[in-house]
Amino acid sequence: MTSSSTAEPRLDPPELDAAEQEARDALAERLFGALLGGMELLTIETGRRLGLYRTLAEMGALNSAELATAAGIAERYAREWLEQQAAAGLLAVHGPMDADAPARRYALPQAYIPVLLDGEDLSHMMGAAPMLTGCALAVPALVDAYRAGSGVPYEAYGEELRHGIGSFNRPGFAKMIGEWIDAMPDVSARLRSGAVVLDAGCGTGWSSIALAEAFPDIEVHGIDLDATSVAEATALATERGLGDRVHFSVGNAAESHDHAREHGISADLAFVFEALHDMGNPVGALASIRSALTPDGVLLVADERVSDEFISPAGEVERVQYAFSVLHCLPATMAESTSVANGTVLRASTVREWATAAGYGSVADLGIEHDFFRFYRIDQ
Ligand SMILES: C[S@@+](CC[C@H](N)C(=O)[O-])C[C@H]1O[C@@H](n2cnc3c(N)ncnc32)[C@H](O)[C@@H]1O
Repeated sequence: MTSSSTAEPRLDPPELDAAEQEARDALAERLFGALLGGMELLTIETGRRLGLYRTLAEMGALNSAELATAAGIAERYAREWLEQQAAAGLLAVHGPMDADAPARRYALPQAYIPVLLDGEDLSHMMGAAPMLTGCALAVPALVDAYRAGSGVPYEAYGEELRHGIGSFNRPGFAKMIGEWIDAMPDVSARLRSGAVVLDAGCGTGWSSIALAEAFPDIEVHGIDLDATSVAEATALATERGLGDRVHFSVGNAAESHDHAREHGISADLAFVFEALHDMGNPVGALASIRSALTPDGVLLVADERVSDEFISPAGEVERVQYAFSVLHCLPATMAESTSVANGTVLRASTVREWATAAGYGSVADLGIEHDFFRFYRIDQ
């Protein structure tokens, strides 16, 4: 019998010794902390969507009526949001704290601007807000899928998750992609003299765009299963003046070879960033990518930095990856295929196993320092 009701019958209270009572209290405290963090993140998401942080950054200290007018929202909501954000330490109060609530002014501290508003700063963490929202919105569908053994398609997580992922990974692409490629001097030299790059599982295209901007003579072909991501990536590339050498198409990475043939290309470098673990047929994808490479072409896979083996309790990075797996990556892959559904936690040994099964000769961890990702150079 399962229920989502809060009126479940009480269990007989267990006898707890002192250590268990401490563990009980620590768990209760932990859940309260999680509630606080989650709720505040949703208030940040509300502010993000309404452009409230941007308005404050552009206009300086505002009272609730001024914010309401500038952002086009109701004054009563503006007042409550401003008070809550200041109570949470996200905004600073300007002038006397005991001023009448409607007259009180609030400002966005300078130090918070990169984290909340600069999409290419390495400290940017605004993606966390839409990511949490996208996962939360999918919970009812998840419960059904868990019972049925079915999946929840990528598009069901909406623009929240799509943009959350894009926003989370974009600063790394914008600021670090040149360095990542330089960890493979031969590949870097090739890209500097013009080359073709295949970006499989490109999402909303930030990786392809960053590669094209870092290496002005390359041509990039991004493919992704999600049609909306591809449309957004295409619009971004055009906006950035890259439409002539950055192309996006809807496609399955397991059909990369057909895609390359259709476009008359062979890739000197294939790039799969945080997408291999999502693919329903990862060995097929790696094999097809191999056929889309030039004979000496190289594959660069970046995927989650998780431990070599299952551990419990795990560190924060692995915990966040597992949470994504339960809420998003595993169900999205289950919607694509039920044959291989790895989930987010892609261990190094699995990458090696898949690459070998796909016919590659070697897999090397490039040793690039990154909190979330491990970078594998895979040679034929
Ligand atoms: C976590 S997102 C990463 C997107 C992008 N690489 C980035 O870092 O922003 C994973 C992406 O893989 C795509 N994907 C999943 N299965 C795929 C497949 N079989 N072929 C191509 N793309 C796939 C999803 O649509 C999604 O855009």
